[in-house]
Amino acid sequence: RFGRIVADAQLLAEAQLLQESLSRMGYELELGKGRGKVVKLVYDPESDEESYELLVKANSIEIRGDAPGVFYGCQTLLQQVYTSGQVRLGDIEDGPRYGWRGFMLDEARHFFGKQEVMKLLDMMAYLKLNKFHWHLTDAQGWRIEIKAYPELALTGGIGTHSDPYTEAQYYTQDEIREIVAYAAARHIEVIPEIDMPGHASAANRAYPEFNGGGSGQFPDFTFNVGKEGTYAYLTTILKEVASLFPSQYIHIGGDEVSYGSEAWKKDPDVKALMRREGLPDIKAAEGYFIHRICDSLKTMDKQMIAWDDVLGFEPDRAQSVICWWRHDRPQTLVQSLDKEYRTILCPRKPMYYDFIQHSSHSCGRTWDGFCPLEDVYAFPDAWYEGWGLEEDDTDTVLGIQSNLWTELVHNTDRLYFMIYPRLFALAEAAWTEAGNKDYGSFARRLDPYYGLMDKLGIYYFDAREPSAHSEPAGPVIIKR
Ligand code: ACM
Repeated sequence: RFGRIVADAQLLAEAQLLQESLSRMGYELELGKGRGKVVKLVYDPESDEESYELLVKANSIEIRGDAPGVFYGCQTLLQQVYTSGQVRLGDIEDGPRYGWRGFMLDEARHFFGKQEVMKLLDMMAYLKLNKFHWHLTDAQGWRIEIKAYPELALTGGIGTHSDPYTEAQYYTQDEIREIVAYAAARHIEVIPEIDMPGHASAANRAYPEFNGGGSGQFPDFTFNVGKEGTYAYLTTILKEVASLFPSQYIHIGGDEVSYGSEAWKKDPDVKALMRREGLPDIKAAEGYFIHRICDSLKTMDKQMIAWDDVLGFEPDRAQSVICWWRHDRPQTLVQSLDKEYRTILCPRKPMYYDFIQHSSHSCGRTWDGFCPLEDVYAFPDAWYEGWGLEEDDTDTVLGIQSNLWTELVHNTDRLYFMIYPRLFALAEAAWTEAGNKDYGSFARRLDPYYGLMDKLGIYYFDAREPSAHSEPAGPVIIKR
């Protein structure tokens, strides 16, 4: 029975969150010095990044580390208290395998709002995940207020993937700041994604003067890379975004531009750009755009993250991070690592949570199979050989990430069902050295957390008994 939490001055925020979490579990501890047995939080800046020691004796508990490390030590403590009502005697030394332990949520296709994002951040923090990649713009919706271009949110925010007529849904800048601060307190960095030059249809509804055209299936899909005004427009937008997110990174998408860029061949501004800059084809025009945006971010002291589609343009290595997503192109990953780009591993298989996770499910993507819990847990080690990689080739891998695209995720039941329990497997895969991973042990340790999810009102996929929670129906899609 511990009565107090005593924390070094650098760790008061961590102490307070620990107190709140324990209180929710029915344990009331005071903060600050006084009588009684204490949980001590000790700041140790010399400690390895994000690492901690948890030292448990009969009458004292001490958690030492840097601030994130102490926070993670607190989560371990909370997990022990949750699963057993006790804290085990003895010492734990622990730290993460990867510095990038990420999850991406697409709120462009469907919008979930602040409360749901905070609930997700709570679970991410509890599981020691530390990067929230927030896909805020796409063809179906623009979800972030931009003061210089208010119609982006007001007009671009109208509609979702399932219903193009819903009223505008987006985050105000105040809400963004609130969410970013909430995440930061939990040692989660928020990386916004503003997708360009493709996936831009929602923005183009708001400001058609920067429309670069699209194709039949993807109308108005691109920004106009030929107009000088487009660069001023996007730079203004990115500057506002940069001021809202303290992360050193902004994700600029860069994916699937070819879905719309054929239209550039007929666009007078793009043709003029190509003549002026000596660009031989529309692919080169795309590369020109990526380089300019990367340079523009540099002036804001931000680095670019982009999907692996940009790799062929050879963006500045010091200034760029690559998200490898095309699992069917391992040669792209090999290229990224050969060229020593910092690389995040998030291949569709097994890391896309819009893929189904069980053979009995039908609402979601498949591609020669699906993305079961076991595969997420085994990631990435079980894949190295198939990709033609050795452990030594992976020095510039920052870490791993799962992505949820939400075309078929229109309510919280479907949101939870696609995320859980795979998020638990992701967390352990990102944290634990390959040699310490054991799926059977994971499945046993996961067991009590189904009860936690029940308490939190999370409608998960029950991997123990797949028929226990039936698959929630997907959205009815209303066509324009
Ligand atoms: C992607 O899935 N288009 C990155």
